Amino acid sequence: MTVFEAGPLRGEVRVAGDKSISHRALMFAAVARGTTRVEHPNRGADVLTTRDAVAALGARVDDRGETIEITSTGLHNPSHTIDAANSGTTSRLMMGLCAGQGLTVTFDGDASLRRRPMERIARPLRAMGIAVETNNGKLPVTVHGIDDLPGGEFALEMPSAQVKSAILLANLRARGPVRVTGDASSRDHTERMLRHFGRMIVFDGKTIVLEPGELTAQRVRVPADISAAAFFMVAAAITPESDVLLRDVGVNSTRTGILDILQAMGAAITLRNRRDVDGEPVADISVRYGELHATTIDGDLVVRAIDEIPIAAVAAAHAGGTTRIRDAADLRAKESDRLSAMAKTLRACGIEVTEHDDGLDVTGGSAQPPEATLESFDDHRIAMAIAAMAAPTGPHAVDEAACVAISYPDFERDWRGLQRPGTHAGISPAH
Ligand code: S3P
Repeated sequence: MTVFEAGPLRGEVRVAGDKSISHRALMFAAVARGTTRVEHPNRGADVLTTRDAVAALGARVDDRGETIEITSTGLHNPSHTIDAANSGTTSRLMMGLCAGQGLTVTFDGDASLRRRPMERIARPLRAMGIAVETNNGKLPVTVHGIDDLPGGEFALEMPSAQVKSAILLANLRARGPVRVTGDASSRDHTERMLRHFGRMIVFDGKTIVLEPGELTAQRVRVPADISAAAFFMVAAAITPESDVLLRDVGVNSTRTGILDILQAMGAAITLRNRRDVDGEPVADISVRYGELHATTIDGDLVVRAIDEIPIAAVAAAHAGGTTRIRDAADLRAKESDRLSAMAKTLRACGIEVTEHDDGLDVTGGSAQPPEATLESFDDHRIAMAIAAMAAPTGPHAVDEAACVAISYPDFERDWRGLQRPGTHAGISPAH
């Protein structure tokens, strides 16, 4: 059990490296000509799963912690099933990558990943002529790849970066151009990284055209993850006397839904020192406490904040009025059912929540420390949302908070490094 305390967040931190960009850098490195150097990679369990998966396919991996160097040596079938553990991104993107390299690979995962839908990847791969066997649309999945795909046109059936990326990765060696339509501003890290590794690609948030070509190894400096920074941003925004500076955060507009949500709620957020690092926009983000008011979160904004809906619900719990979250049904198919998990968590803290099939109504204003220990639902983002929930009112005890290591192994160190327990008005010192 872990106890998160009450107290403002003050100071500066560079949170964990971007998980999505780290996965992609390791996968691209495995097939790019030369040696790719990935700096400040995310070191959570999910990304290490991808590191081990590309090594199992034959890439040479030199992991020195702060940097990972990968040399492509021509991939081969792995000698064993690839265990993607808890990582949806590893399983789904690697299915695409292997499909286009002529490899036959079986993927499996832990109990949570085995519950998650894989047909969304299998269907477009089958449309390319690739044989894919699934267990009723779930893991384990076996992909029988082809290495001379023709390219062609693909319409996304959902605005998912994982589906889009699997299609693009499957077509890395395609003979002809690849056109993907039907996106709605899902994260475009794959498209940007294709350009960074030397490919001709045009994309505008709706349509992508990738020309045939090769990948050349690169240096990739991974920005800090806005999805990790979001927990600090919201805790600072809702806890009196907070003032944090989050350094080197990726502010790609396909990921900044949480900034738009907090700004719509009236939060005191400023972006400084905007720059471009290896094809991705980066900035330092300053957040101070201020009063928040309710907002509506739906449509493309959900896509641009897909992993931040739990922490946005925490902000809503401290905002005057009722915040409506809609168009978020896919949150039920993440590491946990995140709509149900947040409804239970917030209700345990005295907040009025109405659950809908595709969202939540959260009425802010009456948060209290919960009487019983909260559950993390073995979901890293729920555990970190609880830490933020505790900051203005804590303490909050959480079971199984070790799951934060999926995306942010140093979360507790960084959190406690910024927190000043019991220093703001009305809060007694945490025990
Ligand atoms: C991711 C895409 C999103 C996100 C996941 C990471 C990615 O999933 O929830 O955490 O790196 O492409 P979907 O594409 O299923 O929305």
